[in-house]
Amino acid sequence: MTKVLRRRATKMSQNSNHDSRREASAASDHDIQAVHGQMLSNQAEPKQGYSMMPLFMLGFVSTMIFLVAIYFIHNRAGLDEGLSLATQIQDKRFNPEKHMPDETVVEIDPIAMGQRLYTQVCVACHQVNGMGLPGAFPPLAGVDYVTGDEERLVNILIHGLQGPLEVNGSQYNGIMPAFGPSGTYNWNDEQISYVLTYIRQEWGNTAGEVTVEKVAEVRAATADRTSMLTAADL
Ligand code: HEC
Repeated sequence: MTKVLRRRATKMSQNSNHDSRREASAASDHDIQAVHGQMLSNQAEPKQGYSMMPLFMLGFVSTMIFLVAIYFIHNRAGLDEGLSLATQIQDKRFNPEKHMPDETVVEIDPIAMGQRLYTQVCVACHQVNGMGLPGAFPPLAGVDYVTGDEERLVNILIHGLQGPLEVNGSQYNGIMPAFGPSGTYNWNDEQISYVLTYIRQEWGNTAGEVTVEKVAEVRAATADRTSMLTAADL
């Protein structure tokens, strides 16, 4: 009888298509306990203190988040469509050619530029109202030297003027600094053209523009002059 049972059990275990439920039921409670006990005793005993592994993971994840944040801050150029152009231009990787129209026309207002130059330099002597200071600096408002012959005017600016001078019936004897290369200012043709156009149209003056070409022309024609002008040269 026992022989038959054992043979049947062997046959069951040999069956490759075995049924786990039947196998489980075949194991006795004692067997299960024994196996579990063995597994438990194999587990590492809980240790005192803490392991280094979670700390390392925390450090690693924090570093990654930090690096990703840095990456996004540095590579947000493409995400900036909504920002103002001024903000984008401050960005080192901003490529202006991508954002500019094909032809950029920069409009320069000679009067505004000239006024700025006048306010920076000439105003100290000729004053805001262009009236100068009696006895010291001649006026520029309503004066033929300003609104008359433009070549003479450019000449005065480039080379300066000194010695006795009569302007609108008053006598002056001062020094008007040179704004050409012999003076300390050494303004270019544009700067001289802007400031002269400005003084010819301010304080009620209504003379025409002094072009950049005109300044260049007078500069070239008088290039060999080494001294300041005097009243006799005008
Ligand atoms: C340091 C003072 C000083 C500055 C700065 C100065 N000027 Fe004069 N300017 C004079 C004096 C002084 C004269 C008269 C020179 C003389 O007595 O021979 C004069 C004469 C002139 C004249 C011819 C006389 C007249 O009244 O029209 C013009 C034009 C002129 N200045 C324009 C300018 C302009 C434009 C600037 C600025 C770009 C300028 N000056 C800056 C002192 C100055």
